[in-house]
Amino acid sequence: MPAASVMDFREQARRRLPNILFEYIDGGSYAEVTLRRNVADFEAIALRQLVMRDMSALDTSITTLGQTFTMPVGLSPVGMSGMYARRGEVQAARAAKAAGVPVCLSSLAICPVEELARDAIPPWFQLYVLQDRGYTRDLVARAKAAGSPVLILTVDLPLPGARYRDIRSGFTGTSGALNALRQAVDGLCHPAWMWDVWLRGRPHSLGNIEAAVKASGGGDDYLGWIGRNFDRSVTWKDLDWLRGLWDGPIVIKGVLDPADARDALSAGAQGLVVSNHGGRQLDGVSSTISALPRIAQAVGGEMELYLDGGVRSGLDVLKALALGAKACFVGRPMAYALASGGQKAVSQMLEIIRAELLVAMTLTGCARVAEAGPYLLDT
Ligand SMILES: Cc1cc2nc3c(=O)[nH]c(=O)nc-3n(C[C@H](O)[C@H](O)[C@H](O)COP(=O)(O)O)c2cc1C
Repeated sequence: MPAASVMDFREQARRRLPNILFEYIDGGSYAEVTLRRNVADFEAIALRQLVMRDMSALDTSITTLGQTFTMPVGLSPVGMSGMYARRGEVQAARAAKAAGVPVCLSSLAICPVEELARDAIPPWFQLYVLQDRGYTRDLVARAKAAGSPVLILTVDLPLPGARYRDIRSGFTGTSGALNALRQAVDGLCHPAWMWDVWLRGRPHSLGNIEAAVKASGGGDDYLGWIGRNFDRSVTWKDLDWLRGLWDGPIVIKGVLDPADARDALSAGAQGLVVSNHGGRQLDGVSSTISALPRIAQAVGGEMELYLDGGVRSGLDVLKALALGAKACFVGRPMAYALASGGQKAVSQMLEIIRAELLVAMTLTGCARVAEAGPYLLDT
């Protein structure tokens, strides 16, 4: 069945992926309250229908941090995407490049930043700060050498939130022969994935931080390794340190409160991603779309504001723009599409969002995304 909506890729991904990977992508933390809230709060916002305005020429393009894109949508950094499709990060980046939208590469990607720069496009590089600052420094230098135009510092994962599904699936916290057998059976029940990713998508190591993982004694338990090796001592002062390593724009990802937004601005960040990590970290916090207006009021106009979390259609994109975002990023929609059909499916997913955005603009009387504002909402 062809995908009509962004969420149609979810079912295709569920069928194609081993259960352990599908649950890792699909799940959130604890009772998944924030995961659901991210989507539900978008649904609760009404657009204001306005008709009979000349809508024959629409402009969805944006210019942000010195780059121009065809629409205000990008691909969020999603760890281990190379396990969802063969060399998945490269496939996603090619789709983003063809669509003229930004792509972010996770520190925890399978494909290293050099591979994307060589085979697709230099990505916006997402950084996690490791306790061993030497590796962090090297990572930033590698992203710079690969031509990454933007550094995104993710600040909402000093340690991983408890993800019940990952414990139940054996993704984390379990080792031993029985778990290995369970995983092998899970893989064998998904032969298309076995052939495409397990056999032909190697190496499966975390390409950006391979040396750090090896030096710290391996990372069989991915989330456990993160808990032991990410640096929880990071503060806004560390932005000075980062600024010494990186002369391009720095975007802070994982801000949900106006006070933090103001601190990020004072610390010299050029942009923010209003994000709660897709409901994967502190469960019970606000949805990103409900947090956005207060943050826009605090720092809007002084820095670039982006949002991710719960964006499932082009209509959601317009709602976020109306409330102050410059652009939105999509995490799970990208991962589901990648798993279901690689680059082609990610391209389709982006085209679905683009088509929906055009309809939303046409029927709200918004000819240019740059003109989006609260007047687009029926409040
Ligand atoms: C499977 C998965 C892995 C993720 N890995 C990372 C990561 O490595 N770095 C990061 O900053 N955010 C990561 N995120 C969070 C996303 O960048 C993004 O904030 C989130 O997915 C947005 O919510 P959405 O999935 O509802 O679009 C991950 C999200 C998912 C679903």
